[in-house]
Amino acid sequence: MSVTPLFSAARNAMDRAYAPYSRFPVGAALKTETGAIHAGCNIENASFPEGWCAETSALSHMVMAGGGKVKEIAVVAEKMPRIMPCGGCRQRLSEFVADDAVLHLCDLDGVVETVPFSAVFPLGFTFEDGK
Ligand code: THU
Repeated sequence: MSVTPLFSAARNAMDRAYAPYSRFPVGAALKTETGAIHAGCNIENASFPEGWCAETSALSHMVMAGGGKVKEIAVVAEKMPRIMPCGGCRQRLSEFVADDAVLHLCDLDGVVETVPFSAVFPLGFTFEDGK
């Protein structure tokens, strides 16, 4: 178990979640190759499909701050012993991850497990595939 600045950013972001419908707050944080950290929370909507995930919010903050290559991802949800990014967020993250990016699966106290991003999103769709 480790409490890193990246974990703390995700954990603090979780406290900002707007999740009145699911009551499932999530926080995510991304660290880029410069060491910058960008965090986000899930934001739900009365029209349920219009809500979005914490990882997507974090990506938005990263892009608005100038972008970068994601080296590390941390995700935390208060109701899960560890949470995996959903499939849609794995696709969105894949657009920006470095080849050696890692995903930290967290509980409320810190990082529980660290896995390569490539292990949770192998054979993803890329721009090359769309050509
Ligand atoms: N959620 C995330 O923010 N990230 C994930 O990886 C999985 C799910 C959010 C979406 C929704 O607001 C709530 O968790 C319940 O699905």
